[in-house]
Amino acid sequence: MALTLAENLLSRDQIAARVQELGTQISDEYAGSELVCVGILKGAFVFLSDLIRHIDERVDTRIDFMAVSSYGDATKSAGIVKIVKDLDADIRSKHILIVEDIVDTGLTLSYLSSIIRERLAASTRICALLDKPERREVDVAVDYAGFRIPDKFVVGYGLDAGERWRNLPDIATIEEN
Ligand code: IMP
Ligand code: MG
Repeated sequence: MALTLAENLLSRDQIAARVQELGTQISDEYAGSELVCVGILKGAFVFLSDLIRHIDERVDTRIDFMAVSSYGDATKSAGIVKIVKDLDADIRSKHILIVEDIVDTGLTLSYLSSIIRERLAASTRICALLDKPERREVDVAVDYAGFRIPDKFVVGYGLDAGERWRNLPDIATIEEN
């Protein structure tokens, strides 16, 4: 069975407009502070790169990355979260914004936010482009959420299925045939 693209769920224009709104909201709320945006690789790299360009100069902004693996290369959760790449910088007493592509079961983000809190960050918030609330297994507070989507596997704008389709500018569902 092969995976193919099915229907476009979010267009590049819809995404761009929402990312701008999120950036403006983050700018207003963190104005006058120092903020470390922690992108979760690989999925969040496209979203992070667009989002930070809408965080204005009132926020003293830094970027760092973490890579975790919670999924194999297919479309099902293995339920395991492993740190593959850790942060470069010490985050003690810093305001942290975790930037993630999608919250699905919530396992990845609940684990990551607890790690960041243990490192004594001054504050920890979560910004996720997509939220699939129907799939939630553990409670996670998503402070900034782009779009709520139905329980469908999506690709594009950084999101993959088996490493494919991260390059698409729109977000689309996939199907097996
Ligand atoms: P969670 O730990 O179940 O919340 O899974 C979060 C991670 O699963 C995300 O960072 C994605 O890498 C991956 N994921 C979950 N749903 C999708 C999807 O629809 N498309 C692509 N990746 C997904
Ligand atoms: Mg992924």
